[in-house]
Parts: sequence; C-alpha cells; structure tokens
Amino acid sequence: MEARMSFEDQGKDEPFDEHFKSVQEYLDYFYSDVMTKYDEDEGVSMPWILDQFHRTFAGEKDFGNRLLDVGSGPTVYQLISASRVCSEIVCSDIHQGALAEIKRWKNGGENVFDWSTAVKYVSGLEGTGWESRQEQLRTAIKDTVLCDVHKENPLHPAVFQQFDTIIAAYCLEGACCNKGRSTYANAMNNMCALLKQGGYLILQSYIGVTYYVKDGKRFPDNLNLDAEFVLKSISEAGITVLETSVYETPERETPLYSDVKTLLHVIGKKI
Ligand SMILES: C[S@@+](CC[C@H](N)C(=O)[O-])C[C@H]1O[C@@H](n2cnc3c(N)ncnc32)[C@H](O)[C@@H]1O
Repeated sequence: MEARMSFEDQGKDEPFDEHFKSVQEYLDYFYSDVMTKYDEDEGVSMPWILDQFHRTFAGEKDFGNRLLDVGSGPTVYQLISASRVCSEIVCSDIHQGALAEIKRWKNGGENVFDWSTAVKYVSGLEGTGWESRQEQLRTAIKDTVLCDVHKENPLHPAVFQQFDTIIAAYCLEGACCNKGRSTYANAMNNMCALLKQGGYLILQSYIGVTYYVKDGKRFPDNLNLDAEFVLKSISEAGITVLETSVYETPERETPLYSDVKTLLHVIGKKI
C-alpha cells in the first residue's frame, strides 16, 4: 500500500477513554459475549450490525480491493464481511493504542481479544469456515494509520491514493461529541474526500444517543444525531445514498449500556 510515513511515535496515547484504564478493559466491557450481551438492553443489535455488513458485501456491488476503515478503534468485527471482498484494508484512528491493539490481534499477540464469536456468526451467514475467514481478515488488514477526521486530509501526513471503499462505524458521532452539527458535516466532508470517484461509503451510526453507562453512571460521549441529518451530510459530501436500513432498539427505562435509540446503516456511492 502507499503509506509513506510511519506513525509509531505519533498520536494520542492516553487511556482510550477516560473511564477505562486500558483498551483491553474497554473491549471487555463493550465486546465480551458480543453476540448476546446487549440482548436485555439494545436487543439484538450486534447480530443486526453484522447482518448489515454481510448483506452489503455479499451483494453485487464492486467494492474494489482497497478499503479504509475510519475510526476503527480496537475492534475488527466491522471488517469481517468486507475482508472476503477487499484484500487490502487500512485501519485508522486518532488513538495510537487502539491501532496497536488491532496490530496485536492481526499478529496473534498474547491474550489478544477473542473475536471468534463474531467471526463464527458471519461465516455462518456466508457458509464459509470460520478459521479460514479469521485468517483472511488477519491477512487483509495491511496497515494502521493515525487519522483525525477534523483535518482537511484526515490521514495527513501519510499519503494514500483515494480508496475504493470506506467503512465508518460509530466514529463521527464520537469524534464530534460536544462539537456541533457543522463540525460533523465538515468531518464527513473530510472523510469522503478520501474516497475515489465511483467508490462506496458504508456508514453505521448511532442515532439519538446521549450517554453511555459505566459503573452505574451516565457519561455523554456522542453527538446526538437524527437519520435525516446524517443522510443530508453524506449527500452534501458528494455521496449518493443508495440504501439505508435502521434498527430500533427496544424502549427501556434504565439502559444498561447506552440510551441509543436507533442504529443506521447506509450504503452510498461517490457517483
Ligand atoms: C465508538 S468508537 C468506534 C470504534 C469502532 N469503529 C467500532 O465500531 O466499535 C469511536 C472511535 O472513533 C475514534 N475517534 C475519535 N475522534 C476521532 C477523530 N477526530 N478522528 C478519527 N477517529 C476518532 C475513537 O478513538 C474511537 O476509536
């Protein structure tokens, strides 16, 4: 791939989130027992999320080889389906420790987070073998780069050709927490400039979330969005929205993890 800079010594390396001591603690809190842990809160949100990625990448569209994941965090579940199609995946985030965790997972480091339940779920949808698919994902992840969606070129100072496909899962709403909607629209523009003409944007977004819960306390950490505004921002960034789907979380008085109301999945194309 065309990365011309190493980012090993750059980037934000403080705790991944001020309420978690480490990336591992964050992963354990939100992603252990990942297929079932939200059953009593958001309902079947993780199966829905993986279903959307599966449906998208199992379809007829030509997603090319080169995929950028914006705001990867320390997670790879969002890339399982894509890795069957896109053989060169670059993960990006503002947080160095999150990227280091992805590298550790790719290289099979000690006590690395176990994503096999999610891989098994997706390979079940595909009718493929989960171990070879997990290996395919590890092989497809070629690079990790620092990224700041608030920069005009979010990958600066790295230099990459524009990508065939971009995935952004639950990133911009976090990056724009307390920053307002015009900052969100601007970040969407910056991100979409990294996509080539004819390329695809696959975006998943929290809608209507105002806090998440940790140790019984509520912490604001996302910009509260509605689907209309997200779709308008996408189209103002030069992307034609082709398909959308939504998952409504169950009404609940006392959320266990967050008060997210809806998950939104969008497939767009830079036409
Ligand atoms: C809720 S996490 C989502 C992580 C992962 N995509 C997932 O689906 O679980 C939001 C991610 O956005 C990253 N982020 C926050 N501000 C950012 C920025 N300005 N530019 C790029 N990434 C940012 C955070 O470090 C975090 O990893």
